[in-house]
Amino acid sequence: MTMVEEMVQQRDEAPRELPPLPTWESTPEDLKAATRTIKSALRRRIEASGRSVEQVFAVMEERVTQRVEEIEAALRNGENAWPVVDYADIESGRVSAADLALLQRRGCLVVRGHFPREHALGWDRDIVDYVDRNRFFETYQGPADDFFGSVGSKPEIYPIYWSHAQMEARQHGRMARVQSFLNAQWKSSSEGVQWFDPERDSLYPDRIRRRPPGADSGGLGTHLDPGTLDLWMTQAYQKAFRHLFDGSVEQYDPWDAAYRTAGPQYPGTTMCSAFRTFQGWTALSDMDHDQGVLHTVPIPEAMGYLMLRPLLADVADDDMCGVTTNQTFPASEKWHSLLLRASAGIPDVKAGDSVWWHCDMIHSVAPVTDQQGWGNVIYIPAAPWCPRNEEYSASVREAFASGSSPSDFPAEDYEREWVGRFTADELNVVGRRGLGLD
Ligand SMILES: [Fe+2]
Repeated sequence: MTMVEEMVQQRDEAPRELPPLPTWESTPEDLKAATRTIKSALRRRIEASGRSVEQVFAVMEERVTQRVEEIEAALRNGENAWPVVDYADIESGRVSAADLALLQRRGCLVVRGHFPREHALGWDRDIVDYVDRNRFFETYQGPADDFFGSVGSKPEIYPIYWSHAQMEARQHGRMARVQSFLNAQWKSSSEGVQWFDPERDSLYPDRIRRRPPGADSGGLGTHLDPGTLDLWMTQAYQKAFRHLFDGSVEQYDPWDAAYRTAGPQYPGTTMCSAFRTFQGWTALSDMDHDQGVLHTVPIPEAMGYLMLRPLLADVADDDMCGVTTNQTFPASEKWHSLLLRASAGIPDVKAGDSVWWHCDMIHSVAPVTDQQGWGNVIYIPAAPWCPRNEEYSASVREAFASGSSPSDFPAEDYEREWVGRFTADELNVVGRRGLGLD
């Protein structure tokens, strides 16, 4: 490379000389010291770009405020903030431009009739047969999970991964079709790199929730799942959120997958090793909107606000607005009250509908007393094939083969000796590709 080329390249990469950021590729030993160090480095970098931290935050605050007010207005008018699309329109490629625009804007979606209702109800019965036949309730040891552990000793979250119902849903052609549709909302190629393959899912195995009629549940507080302190401290995430910290905040795009699909994540009981474009679940029972259902703050770019908020002067130097390792990222009234004003619940859903939300979005589950009807779901996200998911798939294959709990989850391993587990010879093409076997 000649000196002129080198200068041109430098100019392209960084319009000004910005001070580099320190990085921690594994969990720092002293979290508070690392937090102080990264916060002052981020502030210095933003200021070197010619703008103050307050100015940059104000840009993001204004952008998000517009969305919050739009959603508040919709909720006041009795509208539901969640876009709803029929599966048939996804399959035939006839989702309207208006619905696509709303999906981009809100970052969440209900897919009506993703599976025929009877099919989903059949899966629900299959799960009951599977756990009964294997005496799950007699052998259940209690919750082993720090986060969902608060639901009590009668499991609502079943640590079950390898039933026929789950695997059939994961490898179903209809699932693959919806996942591709959702992945296509992201920019999977940018900066000359294809970050993930939107047409191939990695079959991320997760659990089941079955909440019975009459249940009382405290719900789950507002939080988000993409990471914790690693979001500010690892090189990959610093690059993913580069526009927030280099003076080009207007270019921050929550749908750009750049640098998100290979980096490390700090370990913890709530971690997800996979890159998910959308988190999601498929309903196995009808659920009314007021029966303790999922809420989101349907604003994908709120992540920019969440990332910049700790840099303001009213937050202690060793505090990231409550974010720490080994716990989910909290969204709180204290620091994020603007965002929480836009919290919006799903509409009524039927068995066979599926529900999806952008992986960075704030979400919660409302409390319920004396729940009417069942609240049953299979958690199936969109986790497209990429270096990070390929790496995790090695441990998924092992867990699948032995009937163990996947390595992202507590090692409860209930299903190892169970009869009626889904087997390798029942995998179809989607399943084999998703597990990295083809
Ligand atoms: Fe979550």
